[in-house]
Amino acid sequence: MTEENKKPEFHIGSLPVYGDVIIAPMSGYTDSPFRRICRQHGSAMSYTGLVTEAILKCEDAERALGFTPEERPIVFNVGGKDEDIIERICRRIEKKQPDVIDINMGCPSRKIVLKKQGAFLLQHPDRVACIMKRVTSSFSTPVSAKIRLGWDSNSRNFLDIARIIEDNGAAMLAVHARTKEEGFTGEADWDAIAEIKQTLGIPVLGNGDIKRAEDIDRMKKHTGCDGVLIGRVAIGNPWIFQRRNREEVSPQEMFRTAKEHLESMVDFYGSYGLIKFRKHAVAYFRNTPGAAAVRRAMMLSETPEDFIKLLASALPGMTLE
Ligand SMILES: Cc1cc2nc3c(=O)[nH]c(=O)nc-3n(C[C@H](O)[C@H](O)[C@H](O)COP(=O)(O)O)c2cc1C
Repeated sequence: MTEENKKPEFHIGSLPVYGDVIIAPMSGYTDSPFRRICRQHGSAMSYTGLVTEAILKCEDAERALGFTPEERPIVFNVGGKDEDIIERICRRIEKKQPDVIDINMGCPSRKIVLKKQGAFLLQHPDRVACIMKRVTSSFSTPVSAKIRLGWDSNSRNFLDIARIIEDNGAAMLAVHARTKEEGFTGEADWDAIAEIKQTLGIPVLGNGDIKRAEDIDRMKKHTGCDGVLIGRVAIGNPWIFQRRNREEVSPQEMFRTAKEHLESMVDFYGSYGLIKFRKHAVAYFRNTPGAAAVRRAMMLSETPEDFIKLLASALPGMTLE
């Protein structure tokens, strides 16, 4: 059944979204090849990693902004400290005809918050309002935002921020249910996602601590969210978008997917693709009997072809077609 014959799970503005499980933005991971793998496995949309002015200035900017039609709907995750900078970034991205422009208000990285971007903005609701108003009034593309619950445990202002985002024209909100101070520690607070969902009229995506396939429906039930964003556990594990756990995936399927992913990275990055693929390779084969062999193959191979051959010979029962 093609997507268009299915009923959309929700809409972002007028954009139908045919699915409720979505790859989260992850700088350094969610490039075009990985987004394609996730989308083929059932991710309902594709988020880019964070796009800042600094990224637009690098030599490799065009590649960083690149995507293929199969990745659509494509959501560009944009970061900047004020509405002027963010509008400039969006102007550049607009040429790529994104499906959604997403404003990053959750990144906790020191480098980003020192530049007054990402989660820094949560401390400045007025600035959040100005940014959202500017972007929603300047572009016809639907605009969303991705937030955390607040700066720290003393300033969990997520309901105020969520309302401001909606009141200033956003068409969707994604919530990573931790504060900036928590980073990735502790447990994500799904009750907070439920409170936001009850407060807003626009679609809400819940995020944080999906570890296994069954957590997807558990989060949906607990929070009432419209969809679930999945980050870390999807690395080396795109089957999560099919609501399958790793132990249900045969070694052959893992090998075939890893091989396709590597080939797609080499197409996209040239020979550098093999180096870039290393962190994905480790993730594909973690906790499998072949993990040590994969690491050895990575050290010994100089070309992608070598790597695939070594991998096939190291993993029992694998064949190269
Ligand atoms: C390596 C890495 C890079 C990330 N980069 C971004 C980013 O560029 N933009 C963003 O909004 N969130 C980013 N995040 C946060 C994720 O989108 C997500 O909110 C977080 O990982 C929690 O979800 P999870 O528990 O499913 O991993 C990143 C997370 C990780 C682990």
